[in-house]
Amino acid sequence: MPRLPMTIPSDLGAIAADLPPGVLDEEFRQACQRLDRYIGALAWEVAAALELGPGVQPAADALLPERNWSEAGSLALRWLLETLALYGLAEEEGSGWRLAEPRSPRTTSVETRAEAERITPAAAPAYEVLARCAAALPAVLRGEQRGEDALFGPATLGLWFDYFSNANPLYAPNNVIAGAAVARAARAGCRVLEVGGGGGSAAQAALAALVQAGATPSAYVFTELQPAFLRRGTRAVQQALPPAAELRSLRLDINLDPGSQGLAPGSIDVVFGVNTLHLAQDPIAALANLRALLSPGGALVLGELLRPGPTAPVHLELPFTLLEEYRRAPLIAGVRERPGFMSVGGWTRALERAGFRAVEVSPAQVERCAAIYPGFYCGALTARA
Ligand SMILES: C[S@@+](CC[C@H](N)C(=O)[O-])C[C@H]1O[C@@H](n2cnc3c(N)ncnc32)[C@H](O)[C@@H]1O
Repeated sequence: MPRLPMTIPSDLGAIAADLPPGVLDEEFRQACQRLDRYIGALAWEVAAALELGPGVQPAADALLPERNWSEAGSLALRWLLETLALYGLAEEEGSGWRLAEPRSPRTTSVETRAEAERITPAAAPAYEVLARCAAALPAVLRGEQRGEDALFGPATLGLWFDYFSNANPLYAPNNVIAGAAVARAARAGCRVLEVGGGGGSAAQAALAALVQAGATPSAYVFTELQPAFLRRGTRAVQQALPPAAELRSLRLDINLDPGSQGLAPGSIDVVFGVNTLHLAQDPIAALANLRALLSPGGALVLGELLRPGPTAPVHLELPFTLLEEYRRAPLIAGVRERPGFMSVGGWTRALERAGFRAVEVSPAQVERCAAIYPGFYCGALTARA
């Protein structure tokens, strides 16, 4: 199995040739490679800060009670050990892990980050978020800080807008891939609903793709759970929406019946969300609720970070592992086998159990992409009501 960091294989573009042009361009590939190097350095430094030295270490479940660490850090600890393995810095031994001897000289995460931000300043939010999480993890494990407090608050709102932004070259491909899938599923005059619209970056990408494809919507329902995101995202949609289209902005919780939140059954032609549906407590129920909103033959598009296998680690996952909503999402056999992001197989089964049909994935060979480059996770699923 390939290890990170690596030079992204040149045949990745050919395998994912169905993606919109430019998504896997040289700039993105180079930015990914720099981020991969950074995460490896960061994971190694976090392990050292937690006194997880070379030699045999227990699995995360056994480490927590042994060190008297908080359950709130359990998923992050599992992420750490498995990410070290993804980088060839640890291997499974018995029920635990053997951590490698330090290699010298090592480039520090600070040096790696400085070089990456010099070359691509717009990628800085991705580095800042990861650095904050790595710095917070020891305190979260000691039970002294909540991940939510480390990551969210008035001081970090702007950081998240910059992270989930089309200006961030490490995040934008999620939106471009989902936006293209929305445009393929839509027709001129359709009614579009977005869930978990955040600061509006997915809406911007989808509206650009819709207009370019000649499928300008007649109505756009922008929804989000958090009021501050809803306000910011609504402003972004107002600026991106063609003049003739009607905008409705609504606070919507995907864990609740949309009928009780102001949306009528059958009133939507295309519903989509980018990196939101994996947060549902019960993704099958949330998908079924969205299906009920669709007109006959209507489509659902999910832009999601796709886990390469049902329980495979995702090296970018650290920030989300610290959040209770992500960590506590109930597991469902065959659908969500590990908290958080789900695999293509898991999503396909969830969509089918929610009554959807004709599930398509973009790129179609997303699992092969991840097999040759284990830092590749972008994708979108489209399904019909
Ligand atoms: C990864 S962000 C999505 C970013 C967004 N698509 C964009 O383009 O900026 C996930 C979003 O889901 C929202 N969210 C979290 N829990 C939710 C829930 N139960 N219902 C609806 N939205 C939720 C968050 O507030 C956040 O804005």
